[in-house]
Amino acid sequence: MPEVDKEGKNFHLEIPQKSELFFLKGSNELGWGMKNRMARIFNPKDGHTLMLAFDHGYFQGPTTGLERIDVNILPLVPYVDTLMLTRGILRSIIPPATTKSIVMRASGGPSILKELSNEEIAVSVEESIRMNVSAMAVQVFIGGEYETKSLLNMSKLVNIGTQYGMPTLAVTAVGKDMVRDAKYFRLATRICAEMGAQFVKTYYVEEGFETVTKSCPVPIVIAGGKKRPELDALKMAYKALQEGASGVDMGRNIFQSESPIAMTRAIKAVVHENKKPEEAYEMYQELKNEYN
Ligand code: 5RP
Repeated sequence: MPEVDKEGKNFHLEIPQKSELFFLKGSNELGWGMKNRMARIFNPKDGHTLMLAFDHGYFQGPTTGLERIDVNILPLVPYVDTLMLTRGILRSIIPPATTKSIVMRASGGPSILKELSNEEIAVSVEESIRMNVSAMAVQVFIGGEYETKSLLNMSKLVNIGTQYGMPTLAVTAVGKDMVRDAKYFRLATRICAEMGAQFVKTYYVEEGFETVTKSCPVPIVIAGGKKRPELDALKMAYKALQEGASGVDMGRNIFQSESPIAMTRAIKAVVHENKKPEEAYEMYQELKNEYN
């Protein structure tokens, strides 16, 4: 028999229950499960994320720096918030004891030998849940040959993801001959957000990036793009955050760096400690000597 209520219980009648807005822009109307997944990717303390992207193999095979993910990538894991990868790598290489959040690629099909925009949805939401991931990633080719198909891939993932509380990351892929400017990225990111993506990955541009982040109603993370000198990559990350990005989803500029661990830690200092690029570069150089 349950005990009868005793006198003297404290219901804190003078304290109203808090009802807080969710910390990420455009995300307040998402369900609890989806918000919780987003909060595993974006740190609720500063709203930023450092994602390590190493999913390139799904269309490029073992590209430079990703020949051995067990050797080259696992040592970087402790310093990032989120791993962006494929399910094959998650199952075969990443220790299940990891507590890092995972963004898993859910689109694919063509290799670099074919038309890249001709992707299909390649991973189900059930598989994503089974792998306990925090979001599914899909490539969107605005202006590409299979633009409509890629947008419909994204919409289908958003439809099913919404049923299960699984966010979708839309990755804006730019064709080789297309102009990479703010006008293009405003178009691409806004279409992804309008079609329901919970967050969007795009590239940084020197001119007008703030118009891209301002006109996109959901969080934006930037890709690193081709390898550039470490200081330039740190400057790019810093400026992107200053101009409204919520994080960095960086691959080649980390794993192709002369010292990937030092570079990961320097980027982390920019993303989470608001370090200026020059300070972070100094840190990179000191750490580089330590790790070499
Ligand atoms: C592949 C991707 C990659 O995850 C990402 O764009 C690569 O990151 P980086 O440009 O920093 O190497 O989405 O299309």
